[in-house]
Amino acid sequence: ALLSATGEKYPMEAWDLNMNSLFHVLNLAKGGQIKKVFWPSSIAVFGPTTPRENTPQHTICEPTTVYGITKQVGERWCEYYYNKYGVDVRSIRYPGIISHKAMPGGGTTDYAVEIYHEAIKEGKYESFLSEDTNLPMMFMDDAIKATTAIMAAPPEKLSIRSSYNLSAISFTPKDIANSIKAEMPDFKMSYKPDFRQAIADSWPSSIDDSVAREDWNWSHDFDLNKMTSEMLTQLKKKYKA
Ligand code: SER
Repeated sequence: ALLSATGEKYPMEAWDLNMNSLFHVLNLAKGGQIKKVFWPSSIAVFGPTTPRENTPQHTICEPTTVYGITKQVGERWCEYYYNKYGVDVRSIRYPGIISHKAMPGGGTTDYAVEIYHEAIKEGKYESFLSEDTNLPMMFMDDAIKATTAIMAAPPEKLSIRSSYNLSAISFTPKDIANSIKAEMPDFKMSYKPDFRQAIADSWPSSIDDSVAREDWNWSHDFDLNKMTSEMLTQLKKKYKA
Protein backbone atom coordinates (compact mmCIF):
# COMPACT_ATOMS: atom_id res chain seq x y z
CA ALA A 1 0.00 0.00 0.00
CA LEU A 2 0.90 3.64 -0.24
CA LEU A 3 0.85 4.81 3.40
CA SER A 4 -0.70 7.90 4.94
CA ALA A 5 1.91 10.58 4.24
CA THR A 6 2.79 9.42 0.70
CA GLY A 7 -0.90 8.90 -0.07
CA GLU A 8 -1.56 12.60 0.55
CA LYS A 9 1.01 13.44 -2.13
CA TYR A 10 -0.38 10.95 -4.67
CA PRO A 11 -4.09 10.50 -3.85
CA MET A 12 -5.25 8.74 -7.03
CA GLU A 13 -2.22 6.43 -7.09
CA ALA A 14 -2.91 5.52 -3.46
CA TRP A 15 -6.55 4.78 -4.27
CA ASP A 16 -5.62 2.61 -7.29
CA LEU A 17 -2.85 0.67 -5.57
CA ASN A 18 -4.53 0.14 -2.22
CA MET A 19 -7.92 -0.89 -3.63
CA ASN A 20 -6.97 -2.85 -6.76
CA SER A 21 -4.43 -5.00 -4.93
CA LEU A 22 -7.15 -5.95 -2.45
CA PHE A 23 -9.68 -6.76 -5.19
CA HIS A 24 -7.14 -8.98 -7.02
CA VAL A 25 -6.62 -11.02 -3.86
CA LEU A 26 -10.29 -11.12 -2.80
CA ASN A 27 -11.33 -12.25 -6.28
CA LEU A 28 -8.68 -14.99 -6.38
CA ALA A 29 -10.02 -16.20 -3.03
CA LYS A 30 -13.60 -16.02 -4.30
CA GLY A 31 -12.51 -18.16 -7.27
CA GLY A 32 -11.03 -20.74 -4.89
CA GLN A 33 -7.32 -20.10 -5.70
CA ILE A 34 -6.57 -18.75 -2.21
CA LYS A 35 -7.89 -20.45 0.93
CA LYS A 36 -7.29 -17.75 3.52
CA VAL A 37 -6.66 -14.05 3.07
CA PHE A 38 -4.84 -11.65 5.39
CA TRP A 39 -5.35 -7.96 4.72
CA PRO A 40 -3.71 -5.24 6.80
CA SER A 41 -5.87 -2.34 7.91
CA SER A 42 -4.74 0.55 10.11
CA ILE A 43 -5.54 3.05 12.85
CA ALA A 44 -5.87 5.39 9.86
CA VAL A 45 -9.52 4.25 9.48
CA PHE A 46 -10.25 6.53 12.43
CA GLY A 47 -10.62 10.29 12.12
CA PRO A 48 -11.11 13.49 14.09
CA THR A 49 -14.68 12.56 15.13
CA THR A 50 -13.58 9.19 16.60
CA PRO A 51 -13.23 8.97 20.40
CA ARG A 52 -9.45 9.42 20.88
CA GLU A 53 -8.86 7.51 24.10
CA ASN A 54 -9.35 3.76 24.25
CA THR A 55 -11.03 3.84 20.84
CA PRO A 56 -13.66 1.06 20.73
CA GLN A 57 -13.83 -1.69 18.12
CA HIS A 58 -17.14 -0.35 16.81
CA THR A 59 -17.08 3.43 16.63
CA ILE A 60 -17.24 6.46 14.34
CA CYS A 61 -14.83 6.11 11.40
CA GLU A 62 -14.58 9.29 9.34
CA PRO A 63 -10.97 9.20 8.07
CA THR A 64 -9.53 12.36 6.52
CA THR A 65 -6.60 10.83 4.62
CA VAL A 66 -6.76 8.94 1.31
CA TYR A 67 -4.89 6.09 3.00
CA GLY A 68 -7.52 5.97 5.76
CA ILE A 69 -10.35 6.05 3.22
CA THR A 70 -8.83 3.10 1.33
CA LYS A 71 -8.45 1.14 4.56
CA GLN A 72 -12.01 1.86 5.68
CA VAL A 73 -13.46 0.92 2.29
CA GLY A 74 -11.21 -2.16 2.17
CA GLU A 75 -12.57 -3.30 5.53
CA ARG A 76 -16.11 -3.04 4.17
CA TRP A 77 -15.16 -5.12 1.12
CA CYS A 78 -13.43 -7.76 3.24
CA GLU A 79 -16.55 -8.20 5.34
CA TYR A 80 -18.71 -8.20 2.20
CA TYR A 81 -16.65 -10.98 0.59
CA TYR A 82 -16.89 -13.00 3.80
CA ASN A 83 -20.67 -12.59 4.10
CA LYS A 84 -21.50 -12.90 0.43
CA TYR A 85 -18.96 -15.41 -0.90
CA GLY A 86 -17.63 -17.11 2.24
CA VAL A 87 -14.08 -15.82 1.68
CA ASP A 88 -12.03 -16.53 4.82
CA VAL A 89 -10.58 -13.06 5.21
CA ARG A 90 -8.89 -11.85 8.38
CA SER A 91 -7.60 -8.39 9.16
CA ILE A 92 -5.95 -6.22 11.80
CA ARG A 93 -5.95 -2.44 12.26
CA TYR A 94 -2.22 -2.06 12.87
CA PRO A 95 -0.91 0.83 14.91
CA GLY A 96 2.49 2.35 13.93
CA ILE A 97 4.95 -0.52 13.49
CA ILE A 98 8.57 -0.20 14.61
CA SER A 99 11.25 -2.47 13.16
CA HIS A 100 15.05 -2.49 12.89
CA LYS A 101 14.86 -4.50 9.65
CA ALA A 102 12.29 -2.60 7.57
CA MET A 103 13.17 1.01 6.81
CA PRO A 104 10.39 3.58 7.26
CA GLY A 105 8.29 4.13 4.14
CA GLY A 106 5.89 7.05 3.88
CA GLY A 107 3.90 6.77 7.12
CA THR A 108 3.00 9.31 9.79
CA THR A 109 4.32 7.02 12.52
CA ASP A 110 7.72 6.71 10.78
CA TYR A 111 9.36 9.13 13.17
CA ALA A 112 9.40 6.35 15.76
CA VAL A 113 11.59 4.25 13.44
CA GLU A 114 13.80 7.03 12.05
CA ILE A 115 14.63 8.25 15.55
CA TYR A 116 16.52 5.04 16.42
CA HIS A 117 18.55 5.12 13.19
CA GLU A 118 19.47 8.77 13.73
CA ALA A 119 20.25 8.19 17.42
CA ILE A 120 22.88 5.64 16.43
CA LYS A 121 24.21 7.49 13.37
CA GLU A 122 24.03 11.14 14.52
CA GLY A 123 23.20 11.15 18.23
CA LYS A 124 20.27 13.47 17.52
CA TYR A 125 16.88 13.61 15.81
CA GLU A 126 14.45 16.29 14.61
CA SER A 127 10.89 15.02 14.99
CA PHE A 128 8.24 15.94 12.39
CA LEU A 129 5.56 15.49 15.11
CA SER A 130 5.26 17.68 18.21
CA GLU A 131 6.59 16.42 21.52
CA ASP A 132 3.18 15.56 23.01
CA THR A 133 1.62 13.69 20.04
CA ASN A 134 0.47 10.44 21.59
CA LEU A 135 -0.05 7.59 19.07
CA PRO A 136 -0.63 3.83 19.27
CA MET A 137 2.51 1.87 18.32
CA MET A 138 3.86 -1.68 18.29
CA PHE A 139 7.19 -3.45 17.96
CA MET A 140 7.52 -5.62 14.83
CA ASP A 141 7.85 -8.87 16.80
CA ASP A 142 4.45 -8.22 18.36
CA ALA A 143 2.96 -7.33 14.96
CA ILE A 144 4.20 -10.64 13.53
CA LYS A 145 2.95 -12.51 16.59
CA ALA A 146 -0.53 -10.96 16.14
CA THR A 147 -0.60 -11.73 12.43
CA THR A 148 0.35 -15.39 12.80
CA ALA A 149 -2.11 -15.75 15.72
CA ILE A 150 -5.09 -14.37 13.83
CA MET A 151 -4.27 -16.55 10.80
CA ALA A 152 -3.98 -19.68 12.98
CA ALA A 153 -7.23 -19.03 14.90
CA PRO A 154 -10.14 -21.40 14.22
CA PRO A 155 -12.58 -19.55 11.93
CA GLU A 156 -15.47 -19.87 14.38
CA LYS A 157 -13.52 -17.83 16.96
CA LEU A 158 -13.42 -14.77 14.72
CA SER A 159 -16.35 -12.47 15.39
CA ILE A 160 -14.93 -9.64 13.27
CA ARG A 161 -14.49 -10.04 9.51
CA SER A 162 -13.87 -6.38 8.76
CA SER A 163 -10.78 -5.66 10.89
CA TYR A 164 -9.73 -6.06 14.51
CA ASN A 165 -8.52 -3.22 16.72
CA LEU A 166 -5.03 -4.11 17.93
CA SER A 167 -2.95 -2.33 20.51
CA ALA A 168 0.31 -2.62 22.42
CA ILE A 169 1.85 0.68 23.56
CA SER A 170 1.10 4.37 23.16
CA PHE A 171 3.79 7.02 23.48
CA THR A 172 4.75 10.53 22.40
CA PRO A 173 7.94 11.71 20.68
CA LYS A 174 9.04 13.05 24.08
CA ASP A 175 8.50 9.61 25.70
CA ILE A 176 10.56 7.82 23.06
CA ALA A 177 13.33 10.46 23.34
CA ASN A 178 13.44 9.92 27.11
CA SER A 179 13.59 6.18 26.66
CA ILE A 180 16.58 6.61 24.28
CA LYS A 181 18.24 9.10 26.67
CA ALA A 182 18.09 6.48 29.43
CA GLU A 183 20.52 4.41 27.32
CA MET A 184 22.28 7.26 25.47
CA PRO A 185 22.41 10.27 27.84
CA ASP A 186 23.87 12.60 25.15
CA PHE A 187 21.02 12.01 22.69
CA LYS A 188 19.46 15.33 21.54
CA MET A 189 15.86 15.71 20.39
CA SER A 190 14.27 18.68 18.61
CA TYR A 191 10.81 19.23 17.15
CA LYS A 192 9.70 20.69 13.81
CA PRO A 193 6.13 19.54 13.02
CA ASP A 194 5.21 19.42 9.31
CA PHE A 195 2.08 18.38 7.35
CA ARG A 196 2.11 14.99 9.06
CA GLN A 197 1.11 16.63 12.36
CA ALA A 198 -2.46 17.14 11.09
CA ILE A 199 -2.68 13.46 10.13
CA ALA A 200 -1.42 12.37 13.55
CA ASP A 201 -3.86 14.75 15.27
CA SER A 202 -6.77 13.04 13.49
CA TRP A 203 -5.85 9.58 14.88
CA PRO A 204 -6.57 8.01 18.28
CA SER A 205 -3.98 8.05 21.05
CA SER A 206 -4.95 4.66 22.46
CA ILE A 207 -6.98 1.69 21.23
CA ASP A 208 -9.32 -0.75 22.97
CA ASP A 209 -8.40 -4.15 21.54
CA SER A 210 -10.40 -6.27 24.00
CA VAL A 211 -12.24 -8.07 21.19
CA ALA A 212 -8.93 -9.34 19.72
CA ARG A 213 -7.74 -10.32 23.22
CA GLU A 214 -11.00 -12.20 23.78
CA ASP A 215 -11.45 -13.84 20.34
CA TRP A 216 -7.91 -15.07 19.63
CA ASN A 217 -6.04 -14.48 22.90
CA TRP A 218 -3.97 -11.56 21.70
CA SER A 219 -1.40 -10.13 24.12
CA HIS A 220 1.70 -8.02 23.46
CA ASP A 221 5.22 -8.56 24.83
CA PHE A 222 7.14 -5.33 24.17
CA ASP A 223 6.76 -2.11 26.16
CA LEU A 224 8.57 1.10 25.18
CA ASN A 225 11.81 0.48 27.10
CA LYS A 226 12.14 -3.13 26.02
CA MET A 227 11.62 -2.04 22.42
CA THR A 228 14.18 0.78 22.74
CA SER A 229 16.75 -1.57 24.13
CA GLU A 230 16.23 -4.08 21.30
CA MET A 231 16.20 -1.39 18.59
CA LEU A 232 19.43 0.22 19.82
CA THR A 233 21.20 -3.12 20.24
CA GLN A 234 20.26 -4.31 16.75
CA LEU A 235 20.97 -1.02 14.99
CA LYS A 236 24.37 -0.65 16.68
CA LYS A 237 25.30 -4.00 15.14
CA LYS A 238 23.91 -2.99 11.76
CA TYR A 239 25.82 0.29 11.52
CA LYS A 240 29.07 -1.18 12.83
CA ALA A 241 28.98 -4.02 10.28
N1 SER B 1 1.99 3.49 10.03
C1 SER B 1 0.93 3.90 9.16
C2 SER B 1 1.10 5.28 8.70
O1 SER B 1 1.65 6.06 9.45
C3 SER B 1 -0.40 3.78 9.84
O2 SER B 1 -1.02 2.62 9.40
O3 SER B 1 0.67 5.63 7.65
